[in-house]
Amino acid sequence: MSAAPDAKPLKGLFIRTHGCQMNVYDSERIRDVLKPLGYAPVDAPEGADLVVINTCHIREKATEKVYSELGKLKRMKEASGGRMTIAVTGCVAQAEGAEIIRRQPAVDLVLGPQAYHKLPEMIARASRAVGDRLETEFDTVEKFDALPKTRDPDGPTAFVSVQEGCDKFCTFCVVPYTRGAEISRNVDDVVAEVRDLAGKGVREITLLGQNVNAFHGPAPRLEGGEDWTLGQLVRHLARIGGIERIRYTTSHPRDMDDDLIAAHGDTPAMMPFLHLPVQSGSDRILKAMNRGHTADQYRDIIARVRAARADIAIASDFIVGFPGETDADFEATMQLVRDIDYAIAYSFKYSARPGTPAAEMALHVPEDVKDRRLQALQALLRDQQTAFNRAQIGRTIPVLVTGKGRNEGQMHGRSPYLQAVHFDGTEAQLNQLVDLRIVDASLNSLTGELVRVCEPAQ
Ligand code: SAH
Ligand code: SF4
Ligand code: F3S
Repeated sequence: MSAAPDAKPLKGLFIRTHGCQMNVYDSERIRDVLKPLGYAPVDAPEGADLVVINTCHIREKATEKVYSELGKLKRMKEASGGRMTIAVTGCVAQAEGAEIIRRQPAVDLVLGPQAYHKLPEMIARASRAVGDRLETEFDTVEKFDALPKTRDPDGPTAFVSVQEGCDKFCTFCVVPYTRGAEISRNVDDVVAEVRDLAGKGVREITLLGQNVNAFHGPAPRLEGGEDWTLGQLVRHLARIGGIERIRYTTSHPRDMDDDLIAAHGDTPAMMPFLHLPVQSGSDRILKAMNRGHTADQYRDIIARVRAARADIAIASDFIVGFPGETDADFEATMQLVRDIDYAIAYSFKYSARPGTPAAEMALHVPEDVKDRRLQALQALLRDQQTAFNRAQIGRTIPVLVTGKGRNEGQMHGRSPYLQAVHFDGTEAQLNQLVDLRIVDASLNSLTGELVRVCEPAQ
């Protein structure tokens, strides 16, 4: 497309996102922050004026990926005659910013996850080659205040960050160091963001936080009173016109309070899906991980959630091969998985992270044992996931249509249980809720047939 003669020339912005949904949200906000400066997204780093790598530090592999990617970008930057600006943001930037600049001099800017609102100022400084290239201050409140108040959503679903940072200090995890202390946004700001999104056609929101159910945000200014819990926030957001589906992620078992559990049963917008990571089924390992609960306490929470909403899909994360994990500990994890029966779960081999207490523990588990355990766990989880998906066959369920399929005449969307669903439809159904009868299912998706298009949102 050629620009109108009087239009300002746009600068190409390429953002690569690694890691969790929080980073996906941050990348969108980075785009918003840069828009007033004339940056427009492009699909590839080649030829871009600014490339942002939004990084993840959670496991060693994730971190190493950043350095190999930066090597490639260096060559592209040289090919551009040095015109390309390279910025590294996110959790690796926070954890080892100075190391990044040392290992890859082609990097122009390094900003931690609580400092990316300062990008415009830092780009200006970089172009004059003055000032610091590294910004890793923790000022989450200032960040949220500085971000643009409106957003351009991509379709009918959106992430909304409501809580950041973590005070739990699980012994394996870098997040408390890369994201800082737990901070909740105030309710007024969250409501304003959700209203803005709803006005632009968003129907499903996912509230984000490292421990989103630890949310305790300042109450609305006009109402005052005590901080609100996540349960209160969800009930309030469910009343905003146009918002038909609410999800939240990721939760911690210790913060699963009665009111939030009850909301799953009494708030229709609350989707029947709960991602509640447990990491291990062994009390000994849970203790060494500093998770603050036992396997039976977790079983009890899931039983209460299922009592509030019988069809709820339960998801989790697992780590195998934590230091000192024996065959018996691993078997306790397998037993917990059999007991809970998960809809979906993510499992990882323990990765020692510099600066975390677990990295200093004795009895690291050999790689081949970790591999064997991971394979056994994933085989069980795959069976459960396939069975959960196949259990939808024959049911008619509401699906939010989020995009076009690969083939002509094919559309796809999301079930209430966060499953991907494909069906034969038309583009007119995009962003709408449709009822689909599920006719087939596999490990990763469902196939449906259109029954009816539901009423459009008011
Ligand atoms: N806040 C979330 C999870 C954040 S990290 C929670 O408390 O559950 C996402 C997942 O990465 C974790 O649930 C855990 O399963 C995994 N993870 C974190 N640190 C890890 C490590 N050092 N090695 C392997 N997996 C890890
Ligand atoms: Fe990491 Fe534990 Fe905090 Fe989750 S709760 S982010 S696993 S320290
Ligand atoms: Fe990774 Fe940081 Fe998220 S370490 S998982 S991007 S909070």
